[in-house]
Amino acid sequence: MDIDEFRSHAHQMVDWMADYMDRVETLPVRAQTAPGDVDATLPRTAPQTGEPIRQIMADFDRDIMPGITHWQHPNFFAYFPANSSPPSVLAEMLTATIGAQCMLWQTSPAATEMETRVLDWVRQMIGLEDGFHGVIQDSASGAILCALLTARERVTGGDANENGLAGGPPMAVYCSDQTHTATEKGAKIAGYGRQFVRKIETDAQFAMRPEALRAAIVADLAAGIRPACVVASLGATGVGAVDPLVPIGKICAEHGIFFHVDAAWAGSALILPEHRWMLEGQGHVDSLVFNPHKWLLTNFDCAAHYVRDPDALIRTFAIDAAFLQSREGRQVIDYRDWGVPLGRRFRALKLWFVIRSYGVERLQEILRAHITMAEDLEQTISAAPDFEMMAPRVLSLINFRFRPAGADADACDEINERLLHALNDSGEAYFTPNRVRGRYAIRISIGQTRTAERHVTAAWTLIEDTARSLVSAQ
Ligand SMILES: Cc1ncc(COP(=O)(O)O)c(C=O)c1O
Repeated sequence: MDIDEFRSHAHQMVDWMADYMDRVETLPVRAQTAPGDVDATLPRTAPQTGEPIRQIMADFDRDIMPGITHWQHPNFFAYFPANSSPPSVLAEMLTATIGAQCMLWQTSPAATEMETRVLDWVRQMIGLEDGFHGVIQDSASGAILCALLTARERVTGGDANENGLAGGPPMAVYCSDQTHTATEKGAKIAGYGRQFVRKIETDAQFAMRPEALRAAIVADLAAGIRPACVVASLGATGVGAVDPLVPIGKICAEHGIFFHVDAAWAGSALILPEHRWMLEGQGHVDSLVFNPHKWLLTNFDCAAHYVRDPDALIRTFAIDAAFLQSREGRQVIDYRDWGVPLGRRFRALKLWFVIRSYGVERLQEILRAHITMAEDLEQTISAAPDFEMMAPRVLSLINFRFRPAGADADACDEINERLLHALNDSGEAYFTPNRVRGRYAIRISIGQTRTAERHVTAAWTLIEDTARSLVSAQ
């Protein structure tokens, strides 16, 4: 493809993109395809000769688009959002065009210097104290793995990196029974072993019980196990549990334990001063991650990872190779040493576009509106005679269930599962199943960029109508 052809296709593509943003609301939210439907349209071998873009685009529209679940649909209430925005998409176009690989300062000084600066803007925006240094990771899971590896090196005095884990006493990781599975996954990868992940019990608000954490640490010490890392959640995935950082941090400080905070979703809400109470106790925090790619209008992937001691991170990850050396040395930041992958995309650009284009105040308004919609929905659910909240609402996250008169707990589980499938199969809206204290719940997460009150109202009407039709069909 020559440059003139590229220009012409790109103009058409931008029209496609703008049209998509306009019409996404008319598409089924969750793909309505069955397993194998898309694969059946794909040739078994790669083409030997090039095909025209026009043909590729036609196949994309006909064969691929039906198999897309539309995360940017305003009726997307599943998982946590991965919301995007036009300025973020524009920046991604530039990133893709430039195609820079930003592993060293030298391999794109602007990318490194912008990453440092923009993450410092974000640090200030979320009320994280001066002294934290930011890096963009691909995912919260990646940042949690970095924390677990840094903690491992701290507790072994760097020995694990040098000599491996064989022969040393076991090390333990502490999180709550609400913590995202990324911590368990990271603990497996980092060599702790799943059996040394202590899932600390939670209280009635689903928050980690500090006294239970202390007891687990004391028991491990008595058994010769080294407490290495505590992972607290701000907004855990299921019901949005918020762990108390103040007492947990004190326990970590007493025992010299690395303290990581997983705020993957709720971290975005820290741009709202009224929700900063969640960060109280940050004084003992060693690292924190949150995903602007979840709820800050920035395309996936963009995980903002803050560390208090970048040298500890660098000691954990630094490698030396002649071809990676540069004249600037420690005068500059080489983000390759701040995480697992060597190669890095220019991710800061989209965050820069988003923050500059919206400004902090508009971002605050959008998130506040999502939270208000959830507050209103919570009231509606609480007032409905045959529905109930399954956990207190946290920010814009709701767990509820349908409870038709006379249904016992097992019958409720069964009808709510059918309700969820009926809702998602309708293509009108998309929700996630959950279990709250063992019981089936339907989980609604409000946070798509263009979700407005009318979408939430329509979703609730759909839920009520579908639930009642299931009962009358029985
Ligand atoms: C609280 C929490 N932590 C971690 C993760 C993992 O995020 P990522 O997909 O960025 O690895 C999620 C994902 O939703 C999450 O909700």
